[in-house]
Amino acid sequence: MTSRTIDYTKYPVPRIRHHANPTLYLPESNHHVHLSYYPPVVVPDWREHFANGQPPAWLDVGSGMGKFLIETALGAPETNILGIELRKTAVEWVQSVLHGEKISNASLLWYSVVNGLQFIETGSLEKIFYFFPDPWVKKRHHKRRAFSNALLDEFARMLRPDGRLYLMTDVPEVDDYQQEVLREHGYFSCQYTPSDAEWGPTVRTDQERFCLKKNIPYVRVTCVPALQPAPDGADHDQHSHS
Ligand SMILES: C[S@@+](CC[C@H](N)C(=O)[O-])C[C@H]1O[C@@H](n2cnc3c(N)ncnc32)[C@H](O)[C@@H]1O
Repeated sequence: MTSRTIDYTKYPVPRIRHHANPTLYLPESNHHVHLSYYPPVVVPDWREHFANGQPPAWLDVGSGMGKFLIETALGAPETNILGIELRKTAVEWVQSVLHGEKISNASLLWYSVVNGLQFIETGSLEKIFYFFPDPWVKKRHHKRRAFSNALLDEFARMLRPDGRLYLMTDVPEVDDYQQEVLREHGYFSCQYTPSDAEWGPTVRTDQERFCLKKNIPYVRVTCVPALQPAPDGADHDQHSHS
């Protein structure tokens, strides 16, 4: 539940290309030269990101135009939320809203998550959100998908033992792909979560709002650390579109 409503018309939205430069989706180590348009691989100083100087407790990977990040931060003023996004224009716009609305417990980092998340402390995150990733449906583009065994290693390392990973997608093929990566990785136990009461997050993302408006079905999946991986296909019966 957000504590106030933001008038987004105060912040003119820049023109954002549908897909960014393909090199941004690959790790920096893949490039032999420094690319000026590639987000820097840096260790953030939390004092520059959050008013209380503390590290984030929630992480939103691929925040896009950031309504989820912005409004979730408004509704949880005691919690630091870090967003990660590789499109610089989107990052600048979201930062302008956060600044204009004096929201100092959220920050959007211009960064490509495929470079790892070493700067986030082990066992420090309560929630990780991974919502509506770019689908990259064509086989030759699969290498641009960030959801991988390596990313799940990072998620598993960063999450607290009672932490949660939240996923949403409106692309069945992406859902299948993510379920397969999760099963092979084995650390998480996941279930489809159609019920609002069980889901948790109350703020809708930009893409979720679009899906709701256009009546496009999407799935929500909640994952918790599990000693034993969920049995193969066990959750597929619960597969339901919201
Ligand atoms: C379809 S948008 C969804 C945005 C938002 N989560 C929502 O639900 O509205 C996916 C976003 O993930 C970002 N993204 C894709 N790959 C990324 C990466 N490797 N690192 C950071 N952000 C990435 C894209 O730039 C894009 O803004």
